[in-house]
Amino acid sequence: MVAPTQLARCAAWPPRGNQRDRVLARRLLVNPAMARLLVVYATRYGHTARVAEHIAATLRMEGHSVEVATAARFSSGRSLDSFDAVLVGAPILGGTYGRAVKRFLREHREELAAKHWAFFSVGLSVIAEGGRIDTEKALKRYLDAVGVRPTRTEFFAGALTYTRYNPLVRFLMRRIVARQGGDTDTSRDYEYTNWDAVSVFARDFARELGPAPESLPEAPTTRPASYGESPISASK
Ligand SMILES: Cc1cc2nc3c(=O)[nH]c(=O)nc-3n(C[C@H](O)[C@H](O)[C@H](O)COP(=O)(O)O)c2cc1C
Repeated sequence: MVAPTQLARCAAWPPRGNQRDRVLARRLLVNPAMARLLVVYATRYGHTARVAEHIAATLRMEGHSVEVATAARFSSGRSLDSFDAVLVGAPILGGTYGRAVKRFLREHREELAAKHWAFFSVGLSVIAEGGRIDTEKALKRYLDAVGVRPTRTEFFAGALTYTRYNPLVRFLMRRIVARQGGDTDTSRDYEYTNWDAVSVFARDFARELGPAPESLPEAPTTRPASYGESPISASK
């Protein structure tokens, strides 16, 4: 149900005002609590795509409108104006996150600086002892190199997809994993992602979008102080 105060805010449709007001007004007309969200990701072996789709499905269940796109396919020159918030995800491979996402982040650096946006990392080091710190450092280096600072970061354990690797990668991965006492049957894949944690992350991210629309303050010109000062915020 749209409250009278919400309808009053939408009375001047189509709204003039700034972008935030336009987004807000559209959101109120469709569903008072609905946000329009973009999930952009890269993947080499397919697992980050599954994480991105799980995030999108969770957000849709919460009543939000979600577009999912690969960083490589998200059209160059397309603006992020129509999205209230953005989630960007990539696998860590060889200690870094790849070019497609870097290009996306570079192109949208200014727009992202004014948005609530998250970076989710998918990798295997996070399940090894001390690996979480290395992954955090790698992500910080990557984001600093682009000059972006997400309002939230998250680290998910990924998958060992032996059946998708070429023989050399399969051999090398098995050797690395064996040294750490991990799963070495290369005739199958192993998945380590905690899907409940992915759902919690998605829901928390959407809830951080702000107060209920009827009590939204005037559009902030700078990022709210409650967003972490460090690009690498504490997470599960
Ligand atoms: C060649 C290769 C290199 C990898 N390098 C790293 C790494 O540096 N750090 C890490 O935490 N995980 C690493 N991983 C694990 C991947 O991040 C993990 O398998 C992830 O789920 C892959 O995501 P994707 O299926 O979306 O490509 C590597 C995996 C492969 C196959």
